[in-house]
Amino acid sequence: MCGIVGYIGNKKAYPILIKGLSRLEYRGYDSAGVALLEDGKLNVFKRQGKVLDLTNFVADNPTNGTVGIGHTRWATHGLPNDINAHPHTSGDGSITLVHNGIIENYDILKKELIKRGHVFKSETDTEVLVHLIEDIKEKSGASLAESVRIALNEVHGAYAIVVISPEEPNKIIAAKKSSPLVIGMGEDEYYLASDATPIIEYTKNVVYLEDEQIAIIDRYNGLRIFSISNKEVSPYVQELEMQLEELEKGGYEHFMLKEIYEQPRAIHDSFRGRLNAKEGWVSLGGIKDYEDQIAKANRIIIIACGTSWHAALVAEYYFEDLARIPVEVEYASEFRYRNPIIRKDDVVIAISQSGETADTLAALKMAKEQGATLLGIVNVVGSTISRVTDAGSYTHAGPEIGVASTKAFTTQLVLLAMMALSIGKKRGTIEDKKFQTLLDEMEALPSKIEQLLKSDDYIREVSAIYKDAPNALYLGRGSSFPIALEGALKLKEISYIHAEGYPAAEMKHGPIALIDENMPVFVIATQGQNYEKVVSNIQEVKARKGKLIAIVSKGDTTVREIADHVIEIPNSDEFVVPILATIPFQLISYHIAVMRECNVDQPRNLAKSVTVE
Ligand code: AGP
Ligand code: GLU
Repeated sequence: MCGIVGYIGNKKAYPILIKGLSRLEYRGYDSAGVALLEDGKLNVFKRQGKVLDLTNFVADNPTNGTVGIGHTRWATHGLPNDINAHPHTSGDGSITLVHNGIIENYDILKKELIKRGHVFKSETDTEVLVHLIEDIKEKSGASLAESVRIALNEVHGAYAIVVISPEEPNKIIAAKKSSPLVIGMGEDEYYLASDATPIIEYTKNVVYLEDEQIAIIDRYNGLRIFSISNKEVSPYVQELEMQLEELEKGGYEHFMLKEIYEQPRAIHDSFRGRLNAKEGWVSLGGIKDYEDQIAKANRIIIIACGTSWHAALVAEYYFEDLARIPVEVEYASEFRYRNPIIRKDDVVIAISQSGETADTLAALKMAKEQGATLLGIVNVVGSTISRVTDAGSYTHAGPEIGVASTKAFTTQLVLLAMMALSIGKKRGTIEDKKFQTLLDEMEALPSKIEQLLKSDDYIREVSAIYKDAPNALYLGRGSSFPIALEGALKLKEISYIHAEGYPAAEMKHGPIALIDENMPVFVIATQGQNYEKVVSNIQEVKARKGKLIAIVSKGDTTVREIADHVIEIPNSDEFVVPILATIPFQLISYHIAVMRECNVDQPRNLAKSVTVE
């Protein structure tokens, strides 16, 4: 996601735009840019880097004009650089716009527009939209607003856009679908932004644009709103109550909680253009050219650190079960120093939210020197790891500000699941019925997570009981064992309670000595092939007076009789349980950390990206 701003009124636009972008920088900071309209002339300034880099770049240039737009980018298509920075302008310079979202059918549209003689400068999906509007305007002679409306009817995907033109200098056009856009109503002036944070200091009266609506703001005639089917809608003006600080976090107390709640949207975004259960396909465009090599690989080595290493452990279950390819999971920090045997037909996958983790990068470079094929599962577009690998797919989780990884982790699992499904299908190691079932399960994830998040109040009550525990154990079997590790890491890193994750069956080999009435044991005990065995493990814990908090399938009655607390997750195939079971553990660690008054978003001793060894 990114931040977009716009202004039309009687003040100088530039300072309002820059201040607004600074308030939105938490939404993305790959590049920043502004476009200003002055006396029918368009001045565009854009730069890779932060808003401060942009202001330094603009420096002594003329920044007049009372109409303008601005953008701080979170790249999805095209590296973070000056050319790909927004605003993007049409070939004839008559239209410029900023965009938050993903134009899914940009590739087809771009090919058609190139055939019609359009010349593109950037690698972005956004630039396709501005050329499409130009093409329609040229051919139909329609107004800017009408051309935008027609263009948006041809576009698939998510957008929040703000458009200006020197040919209609007293207008700003805005539209949205799936990405947010707010209009602030001033005295003969209008403010536009991705959220209310840049607006609140000027006015509390706002209009939240709805999906598939277009706003036409005319300096003299004010605001009018139309649906993209051209039906006029009367603006619904609301009064903002929240304070600025709360708004940056979208009304959540911490970025981590906001990012936990963003997971349905983030997972939905990670599917965009990649998975369609109705049509029965899954396809990762980023690795298309390497699918044969992966399908023929004798071995997949996955390297990562921390939470990303837990994603790698789940991926081992996915690839070996569905694609029948041997997988080795390695801590990058260990792999790079143990002089491993890496063969040319090995496929090495690096998983990293930041794409900058030093150990993962170093291990990757070592594998590259030994001739392996390198793939990346990364969240930050254009990050170093994404550029060192031969190919890869971005998780599209959006910026993850909280140090404790949440939405990046669950989208990593989704990407790895899609990769395993796609390779398994190619190798013929998944029967058709199972393939379709798993596609359906994947597509149902966002709504199931929405359902799960409704248990948050109950999860907070349970968390309060254990907030002063000195230690905790997390147990899981099969592909839920890595989730036990992840749950333990979450608790450790933000509440500073010592916690360990174990395979549930491992209890008997030592850790059970730790069990007493002061030891909370969090266990994943969902329906599946190991269910009865996990129930036995739970009995063993109860026999030693351990406190049991169990994650169970909805409607479970057996575990409910034994455990002290049960947290239900929607009934699902075991394939997606690791993704669903993660959510309660994220919330438990979050609530305990808040109750212990820890710094949830920036825990002590930690950093969001470990770029040192
Ligand atoms: C997870 O909550 C931690 N922030 C940490 O373990 C993190 O996963 C690890 O440092 C790897 O970071 P990366 O995914 O950016 O490579
Ligand atoms: N998809 C557009 C790009 O990559 C917009 C990304 C964003 O929302 O910042 O430039």
